[in-house]
Amino acid sequence: MSIRVKEFGKTADGRTVSIYRITNANGAYVDVLDYGCTLHSICVPDKDGNLVDVCLGYDTVAEYEANDGYLGAFIGRHANRIGKGKFTLNGIEYTLAVNNGPNHLHGGKKGYDSVVWATSVASDRLLFSYTSPDGEEGYPGNLSLSVIYSFDDDNALTLCYDAICDSDTVVNFTNHCYFNLNGAGSGTATDLLLQVHADAFTENDADCLPTGNIIPVEGTPFDFRTPKTIGRDIEADDQNLKNGSGYDHNFVLRGEGMRDVCVLSSEKTGIVCTTATTQPGIQIYTANFLTERKGKGGATYHSRDAICLETQHFPDAVHHDNFPSAILKKDEEYHQETRYTFTVTK
Ligand code: BGC
Repeated sequence: MSIRVKEFGKTADGRTVSIYRITNANGAYVDVLDYGCTLHSICVPDKDGNLVDVCLGYDTVAEYEANDGYLGAFIGRHANRIGKGKFTLNGIEYTLAVNNGPNHLHGGKKGYDSVVWATSVASDRLLFSYTSPDGEEGYPGNLSLSVIYSFDDDNALTLCYDAICDSDTVVNFTNHCYFNLNGAGSGTATDLLLQVHADAFTENDADCLPTGNIIPVEGTPFDFRTPKTIGRDIEADDQNLKNGSGYDHNFVLRGEGMRDVCVLSSEKTGIVCTTATTQPGIQIYTANFLTERKGKGGATYHSRDAICLETQHFPDAVHHDNFPSAILKKDEEYHQETRYTFTVTK
């Protein structure tokens, strides 16, 4: 594995953004920005051995700053929604930035996706660090974070998140990569095959906020226990699908500890992405709100041209005692890991 760095551009307020290329022994590579620890490109071999970029992104910092959608970004302090942007911890009510209808989404108006992270390069990994100050976007406690990316010779991209806080707080980190295994910018991702090792999902209201109900996938369009195309049931007459304009739901993953949780594959390129994680949930988001826009290399992206596989704690866990807790206690060590491994079928 080798890592080289180049300047990518500057933010509107003059911060320099660098792009790091992690190349493995086979020539496959991942490009990462220090702006938001953003996965910019993931170039892996298809069934004929040609490299295909399977990750959506932009050519300039200005586009990352101007557009919504969090393409490729690391998300925190709390991924997905917190109802009404309020929660109570140890008897104190905290008010967060509200940036998605009535709710708080993906860390608020200035989440970790727009931070330019301090970066250090080791021979086998890229390490990003940031201290999120007490009160940032309304969250309690000074939170020290490290995010480590590595890409090995088996085309496994591993993302490790560690954090510690000087007071009790809530945390939920994810990565918001938009995958299209047919190739980024090649059109719809609805023909990709998806399997998710989940027997249930969390029901959403019309604002995509969990109601607290956990629904078995059996007999619903959310049953991905055996592989089916993303598009097969996406237009089914189902209130949950209508609420998300497609899939935009947290799946309750089987098991615990580091385990395989979902498999995405393309019949066109033969590329298969197996996701493993330590996290309890995954937001399967079919890019329903990806409005038409210009992407990398002159491509045009549209709604449903990608899928996000956002490993996470359940959204709004702070309001639902039946969800795994997202509270991080003072001085407790937070650690989560997610691995996307790219292989091919012939
Ligand atoms: C959310 C979507 C949101 C998207 C981009 C996903 O994680 O669940 O509702 O539109 O991120 O912000």
